[in-house]
Amino acid sequence: MKSMKNIFSSRKRRVDDKKLDMTRLPKHIAIIMDGNGRWAKKRGLPRTAGHKAGVEALRDIIRTCSTLNIKYLTLYAFSTENWKRPKDEVSALMQLLVHYLKKEIIELHKNNVRIRTIGDISGLSQVARKEIDIAIELTKNNDGLGVNIALNYGARAEMIKAVKEMCQKVKNNEIAIENIDENEFEQCLYTKGIPDPDLVIRPSGEFRISNFLLWQIAYSEFWFSNIFWPDFNGECLMEAIIDYQKRDRRFGGIK
Ligand code: IPE
Ligand code: IPE
Ligand code: MG
Repeated sequence: MKSMKNIFSSRKRRVDDKKLDMTRLPKHIAIIMDGNGRWAKKRGLPRTAGHKAGVEALRDIIRTCSTLNIKYLTLYAFSTENWKRPKDEVSALMQLLVHYLKKEIIELHKNNVRIRTIGDISGLSQVARKEIDIAIELTKNNDGLGVNIALNYGARAEMIKAVKEMCQKVKNNEIAIENIDENEFEQCLYTKGIPDPDLVIRPSGEFRISNFLLWQIAYSEFWFSNIFWPDFNGECLMEAIIDYQKRDRRFGGIK
């Protein structure tokens, strides 16, 4: 708990970290980082200023997850539907991604963070792909917090990809149709090898999933908040975890 004090001592604490049960932490937290545009609008700033502030917010969240020894953090950064946005906004988002990785990767590596991506990276620019490859390669042996960045990610596209891969396996006689089960299917998802999220967080006051991890959230707990993502900090995360710890997860069974 000592290092956690360091994180929160600098500001007045709303959340009492003593309420946190360190033996029942979620293993995997997934976050829909939403509300950047509205955060900026409220301040009379361009939407891109909101995205920039959103990246800043990420630092505190990654630090808090690392300190708490959370194993996986999945971040929804760009969806398959976000291409519908104006060209300028899309390119600003991609530039921010490149800038973020360039600036933060050494620090992330020092902190034993492992970077992975989920989504169709082939749809991104060569510059972005290069930075992603560098980050993945550099951190591949780290065994601290696993950060999965969802980029050009859509859960429906992910499932179609998995179905195609399964069909190909059947065609190649690598698997019989009768032997297709949930386990086999999961091997074809981007999240292969990563446990399902225990807790899904969506800030910004929206109560929807927006094509995020549809398969993997079958039994996840949800936490919604009106806070826009750029204002989301370690304290908000702690609040979400404390709420999560009050939930009774039955997975269809009974106590
Ligand atoms: C989330 O913030 C960032 C991305 C979707 C890339 P938004 O840009 O969706 O912000 P709002 O929802 O318009 O406020
Ligand atoms: C979801 O937010 C995608 C990301 C946060 C990357 P959106 O802002 O794109 O979702 P909708 O349009 O409100 O459903
Ligand atoms: Mg949004």
